[in-house]
Amino acid sequence: MATEIEDQILDNLTTAVLALDRGLRAIAINPAAEALLQLSAKKVLGQPLPECLPNNRPFIQALEQVLNDGNALTARGIQLLLANNQGVTVDCTVSRLADDDDNSPLLVELSHVDRLLRLAKDEKMFRRQNANRAVLNGLAHEIKNPLGGLRGAAQLLERELHDESLKEYTNIIIHEADRLRNLVDRMVGPNRPIERRPTNLHAILEHVRNLVLAEIPKGITIERDYDPSLPDLIGDPAQLIQAILNITRNAAEALGGRGVIQLRTGIERQFTIGRKCHRLVLRADVEDNGPGIPDDLIDSIFYPMVTARPEGTGLGLSITQDIINKHGGLIECTSQPKQTIFSIYLPLESKDG
Ligand SMILES: Nc1ncnc2c1ncn2[C@@H]1O[C@H](COP(=O)(O)OP(=O)(O)OP(=O)(O)O)[C@@H](O)[C@H]1O
Ligand SMILES: [Mg+2]
Repeated sequence: MATEIEDQILDNLTTAVLALDRGLRAIAINPAAEALLQLSAKKVLGQPLPECLPNNRPFIQALEQVLNDGNALTARGIQLLLANNQGVTVDCTVSRLADDDDNSPLLVELSHVDRLLRLAKDEKMFRRQNANRAVLNGLAHEIKNPLGGLRGAAQLLERELHDESLKEYTNIIIHEADRLRNLVDRMVGPNRPIERRPTNLHAILEHVRNLVLAEIPKGITIERDYDPSLPDLIGDPAQLIQAILNITRNAAEALGGRGVIQLRTGIERQFTIGRKCHRLVLRADVEDNGPGIPDDLIDSIFYPMVTARPEGTGLGLSITQDIINKHGGLIECTSQPKQTIFSIYLPLESKDG
């Protein structure tokens, strides 16, 4: 019984934990470590870690040092190079499982520093965004009420006018009032609550792909790399299509006629969004090899009305973020020339929004 509980604790820890024998072969690994090191338990158990993670001399040296002298050590900010050539920065603590036994296996704990930094950033973003929404909703209300009155009065006036040439002016008032109302409606985003039903993320991405393919030049291709093991999530398909369409359209617009968009999916384990740690989270990436997001814009692209395009309204990403938040999810972006990635994370269980 005790071991069952211990197993559950290990499985649910957000810290990556590994146990290694004296030949540095993995004898235990928890899901957080599998996710962080991008190594499956099946692949790594029984294998020497230096072979599973080649080119990580400083990390292996830290392990060997504890093997030799038995003193626990903590190393901060170690760079690990993963099998897929991605790098992660970790804080690492290595100790003997049994303090007084020279033949004791090693216990290795790793925390993902990038992720800790990101969590702090997420929280700030979350709060800032909620404040933004509240201001926007208030503003929308204050604009729409008098606008309705203005439009109604213009219509009444129009009826009283006998000179046709003057009606041109009332038409302008009515037309501009409608334009402003549409803008405000877009600004606050879809205001119906999200529907919750089993939804297939790949079906959504395929739908978006077909819509975007129909409107973009031939020089742009949309590739996909889907994880076939992805389960359905509970969500609102129409709103999720809107959310992902906005990002994919942006990618196509950034490419300016030539380039590649990639749609990717995957699963993240023990993933924290806001303050909640989710066991399983679905990830959808939209990547393009365009020029990247201008440096002076990157921190504010999720704000409404922020745009670098003359014909843009700057509302696409703000709406996307609102929809993803209502699904209890998270959206983030990394960008450099030739590689811009928007990643959407959606928890598997539903959440009130
Ligand atoms: N993949 C991308 N590559 C380069 N820049 C991007 C990318 N995605 C977004 N951007 C930048 O972020 C800005 C904001 O995007 P957002 O979708 O919110 O507004 P928009 O596309 O300008 O207007 P709208 O979507 O309302 O028509 C864009 O104007 C563009 O400068
Ligand atoms: Mg856009």
